[in-house]
Amino acid sequence: MRPFLPVYQPDLSGNERAYVLDAFDSTWISSRGAYLDRFERAFAETTGLPYVTAVCNGTVALHLALHGLDLRPGDEVIVPSFTYIASVNTIVQAGGTPVFADVNEEDWLLDPDAVAAAVTPRTRAILPVHLYGAACDMERLSAIARRHGLAIVEDCAEALGTRLNGRHVGSWADVATFSFFGNKTITTGEGGMIATSDEALFRKLVIAKGQGMDPNRRYWHVAMGFNYRMTNLCAAIGLAQLERLPELLERKRRIAARYMANLANSGVTFQRRKDHIENSEWLVSVLLPRGVDRERVMARLAREGIETRPVFYCAHHMPHHLRPDLVLPVSEDVSARGISLPSWPKLSDAEIDRVCEAMIAALRSA
Ligand SMILES: Cc1ncc(COP(=O)(O)O)c(C=O)c1O
Repeated sequence: MRPFLPVYQPDLSGNERAYVLDAFDSTWISSRGAYLDRFERAFAETTGLPYVTAVCNGTVALHLALHGLDLRPGDEVIVPSFTYIASVNTIVQAGGTPVFADVNEEDWLLDPDAVAAAVTPRTRAILPVHLYGAACDMERLSAIARRHGLAIVEDCAEALGTRLNGRHVGSWADVATFSFFGNKTITTGEGGMIATSDEALFRKLVIAKGQGMDPNRRYWHVAMGFNYRMTNLCAAIGLAQLERLPELLERKRRIAARYMANLANSGVTFQRRKDHIENSEWLVSVLLPRGVDRERVMARLAREGIETRPVFYCAHHMPHHLRPDLVLPVSEDVSARGISLPSWPKLSDAEIDRVCEAMIAALRSA
């Protein structure tokens, strides 16, 4: 029996174990400790984003970022429908209204023309999501935001290591958010980060993440708050992961290049790569040719011990965000045809070749 190939598994073979044990032995296992400071400092250096604070997952990072905008009932936030559901749920949780805009055919990311068309007098923010390691067109989205006085919250959960013209994603935003779930480019088990260049906003968000407590007066709460803090144990894993980010990114870029070469004539379509974007290649995903039964292809790969997963379903089709009147042709097409392939850093070339051979055979018989 050939080994099972999951879509993802983290590579914890660096200092992760040593740092976690060190944090454990120090007894600083809650949300204060040296590893938190070191992880946050290292993250700020890596991304070039000056003010960062660690939180307990990428979903609460988004909620905190949106909370910082002080949305009022009826305030609109433009977001892709083709995204992970947290990008949409958190807008509602922060008191806003999601307004869905379509994505581009070539990169499956927020289409600036669709965003411009969706702006109304109630629009407060744009929430671009950098899916699968690609980068949205932040130049054009920023221009739209400037023209209409809108905030930008960049969801970088899937794009640590992605740069646009050398500039890390997240640096166009009022607030950017990251996720360190077990399948992300770096992991802390569960974890997230918010990042901003705005010092005043940063202070507000740090207070909100810690129950709204006055940093200079214990148990005096100056604002509405949450407990969204990361633990020192998680930060210990994160620091060890971050030390190896260049190595992880290099391997993932080689994985994506091999998939693209092997599957070049198979009929599948990749997100278009662009010269000015260093893609972190978080999760290699492809669109199956039109008319192919995705479930059958995935079932056939599963029989060969290869896990794949469908790309995200559109949020405007889900019961709690249902918009039966809304048609987003590109989002719906990408969502119906896409699958994600095994993409973890230690995947060997032979294993990639095995996935590709199985995929080509599955498409032939589809
Ligand atoms: C685009 C996107 N946004 C937000 C999140 C939420 O992150 P977390 O799972 O850490 O809560 C994820 C994670 O899966 C994601 O992929």
